[in-house]
Amino acid sequence: MNSPRTFHVKSFGCQMNVYDGERMGELMTAQGMTATDDASSADLVVLNTCHIREKATDRVYSDIGRLRKDARALGREPMIAVAGCVAQAEGAEIVRRAKVDVVVGPQAYHNLPALVAQAAAGTPALDTDMPIASKFGALPARRRVGPSAFLTVQEGCDKFCTYCVVPYTRGAEVSRPFAAIVEEARALVDAGAREITLLGQNVNGWRDADGRGLELLIAALDALPGLARIRYMTSHPNDMTQGLIDAHRDIEKLMPFLHLPVQAGSDRVLKAMNRAHTADGYLRLLDKVRASRPDIALSGDFIVGFPGETEAEFSETLKLVEAVGYAQAFSFKYSPRPGTPAADMAGAVPAEVMDERLQRLQAAINRDQAAFNAATLGRRCSVLIDRKGKLAGQMLGKSPWLQSVHLITDAAVGDLVEVDIVRADPNSLAGQERVRVAA
Ligand code: 5AD
Ligand code: SF4
Repeated sequence: MNSPRTFHVKSFGCQMNVYDGERMGELMTAQGMTATDDASSADLVVLNTCHIREKATDRVYSDIGRLRKDARALGREPMIAVAGCVAQAEGAEIVRRAKVDVVVGPQAYHNLPALVAQAAAGTPALDTDMPIASKFGALPARRRVGPSAFLTVQEGCDKFCTYCVVPYTRGAEVSRPFAAIVEEARALVDAGAREITLLGQNVNGWRDADGRGLELLIAALDALPGLARIRYMTSHPNDMTQGLIDAHRDIEKLMPFLHLPVQAGSDRVLKAMNRAHTADGYLRLLDKVRASRPDIALSGDFIVGFPGETEAEFSETLKLVEAVGYAQAFSFKYSPRPGTPAADMAGAVPAEVMDERLQRLQAAINRDQAAFNAATLGRRCSVLIDRKGKLAGQMLGKSPWLQSVHLITDAAVGDLVEVDIVRADPNSLAGQERVRVAA
């Protein structure tokens, strides 16, 4: 097989995969390869995979099949690399089952060029090591990014929720050093970012060697000229310190949005999930957050149909949703993951019961999201323009509360515009421009 000259990276799953995908792209560009948007004509296709639920994992194999078929129709045979959490979890099994050329785990992708070279020389290459030394030091500097950029500050998880594969695929909790993060943030701003979202599986558990917590990192980023907005996700309730809660009051660039998954409303289910917090503890925590930042938009994740979940227990989830009034939330049907403790628990919830619970939960979440959007009607707020809309002169962007806003404007991607919200729909808002905020 020849050394690839063009590549295409396709990322699935969470924002951290989006970030990893960008960095793999930068790495290959630094090797002299050229990115292409069209997977079927690329010499090298990297599938950056997700293992969080069974459906996401199954997708990898069907995607590999489709990719090969499309490429063959063009008389091509691309090199295929499987990266991300499925690569970590299944390793050599992917080479055996799907005959791919490269398998690389999420902590080893700085070695991608060497693995690609090995595969080009005719030997399938596999690297799922989790080295102590971080991959970040081996990656090239950031050069060109959109107005809203991701920055991984913490990786891995030590919480071991009983349903979750993340502690196994991403490894133990590791925080990147303060100075390296600030340096990368500065490079992102120089490369065009106006907003940075700090990423981590437990981002609010970020702590450097001197014991500094996330709020001090946010304060350092607050001082960067040219950066207008800071966000962070995903957080664990038990790592939500008073210092971070206060930052939502004190740091203007920190957007009023908090993604704080709770997963379920029943204390028995929370205990079986090993979440180490109660429903009431979560609600009291949100009271503190709201006291600090009254307009904060809250977001969460939920799992329905965890083993043994009864109708009464599920109704406690609905009760919690009602008590919180989320601005948005994600809900999933429980999916047993091989190797996790919950996969061996008795009391599987029948598929049709799960479907029905998911529908009821999503209806409740949609109702709250529509109410949250309606409450922004008439407000004046900033919008960070991130892309063109479908209509002539229309641009799309995000409000401070992470809602999609469309408006007619001659502002460009990356501009911050002050708007009045003139219409609120369940999934988006319409804004009318008032003031262009200078860069
Ligand atoms: N089944 C269903 N949903 C899951 N999540 C994590 N593991 C599973 C699983 N086995 C959900 C959780 C988590 C989100 C990223 O994915 O809600 O917060
Ligand atoms: Fe998974 Fe729980 Fe860790 Fe989140 S906190 S990554 S759900 S184990």
